[in-house]
Amino acid sequence: MAKYLIRSMILPMTGPDDFYEQGEIAIDGDTIVAVGEKGSAPADFVPDRILDLPDDVVMPGLINTHTHAAMTLLRGYADDMPLMPWLEEKIWPFEAKMNEKDIYWGSLLALCEMIRSGTTTMADMYIGQEQTAKAVLEAGTRAVLSRGMTAFQPEAANRALQENIDLFHQFHNGGDGRLKVYFGPHAPYTCPGEFLQKVKREADRLGTGIHIHVAETRSELATIRERYGTTPVRWLEGLGLFSGRVIAAHSVYLEEEELEIYQKYQVGVAHNPESNMKLNSGTAPIPQMLSRGIAVGIGTDGTSSNNDLDMFGEMRTASFQQKLTGTPDLLSAYEVLNMATNGGAKITGFTGLGRLAPGYKADLISVDLDQPHFYPRFSIPSHLVYCARGSDVRTVMVNGKILMEDRRLLTLDAKTICLEVEKRAKRIGAEVKNLL
Ligand code: NI
Repeated sequence: MAKYLIRSMILPMTGPDDFYEQGEIAIDGDTIVAVGEKGSAPADFVPDRILDLPDDVVMPGLINTHTHAAMTLLRGYADDMPLMPWLEEKIWPFEAKMNEKDIYWGSLLALCEMIRSGTTTMADMYIGQEQTAKAVLEAGTRAVLSRGMTAFQPEAANRALQENIDLFHQFHNGGDGRLKVYFGPHAPYTCPGEFLQKVKREADRLGTGIHIHVAETRSELATIRERYGTTPVRWLEGLGLFSGRVIAAHSVYLEEEELEIYQKYQVGVAHNPESNMKLNSGTAPIPQMLSRGIAVGIGTDGTSSNNDLDMFGEMRTASFQQKLTGTPDLLSAYEVLNMATNGGAKITGFTGLGRLAPGYKADLISVDLDQPHFYPRFSIPSHLVYCARGSDVRTVMVNGKILMEDRRLLTLDAKTICLEVEKRAKRIGAEVKNLL
């Protein structure tokens, strides 16, 4: 594998004051060997290639901690509805008509958009994940995949669980360690307790984690209260679900005592502010989580509840939503960047991600700061969160391999993928319409 020397501004995300105005990063294979001011790379380091990006800031690749990649097929298909009727009347009937190849192409489209907006790792939960795994291997990014499982019918639920197990055996640690497989029980209101415990036993047996939606809406709270006389978090704790690694998406409605539960079990939170706003779900108590040391990452959720996969937009919203519903000092730009990098690394369980430092993986992006909306340059973290958009990303590298250079995708053919998804999504839309 190649050796690279990148010369640029560097925001390594190793501490709030760490920044190199004229920095350099030395990369050997998939690993960073040196980060510092210009001239700091070891004297005997001979790069195969030098990337001179004096007007770019290089930072760790963004980690999208909760998404449903192939839902790009449903982008703009149904909007402006509350969660339950939206799922029951629109999303689930559409999904029932999707085939494996649809999922593959939908995942590729998501990955095009992710790479082009600086996301290098995603935690995905959906059906047909072996297709998403293939797409990720092709795109060259990193992912934690989990088979999204609902358990309305026991037989279908058991089949889904078996698919998740098969997915684990086929892809866990695949692609030079770029893939992980978790288990994906959809949510407390779509999975009975016995099923959740069964899933948990399998996850424990295979030594892997769980990715689940938790305490997302008021309607979920009411359903769980009615069925079990408690809250989603307490119910899941009682089932023993929190004892291992868990990505708890949304986590909007948490009481003080439930924050303690998250802290005690080190539950990782995937915060999805745009989805929480679009579906009128609410504002998650993120500052309270951070002050307790709970690991929080940022996620976009699927493109039918967002509707894009741009983590820069998501970061800005994460901050603004807290300021709107709380006070303007909440969630500084640096704290938000930290969630999208270090926080994401922590909750997805990848080692050596989330910061640029010797020994860490060469997963990084460069943002082109030579544009009017980035002048004057008082604060780079401020610009990255409050001004940048995904389209400002110029270069993307994952595991030491360049996936985008000068905004040109090197592993995926975006045009073909867009046209293919357009065709497939319209076909499914017509099929669903014919049913009505
Ligand atoms: Ni979701």
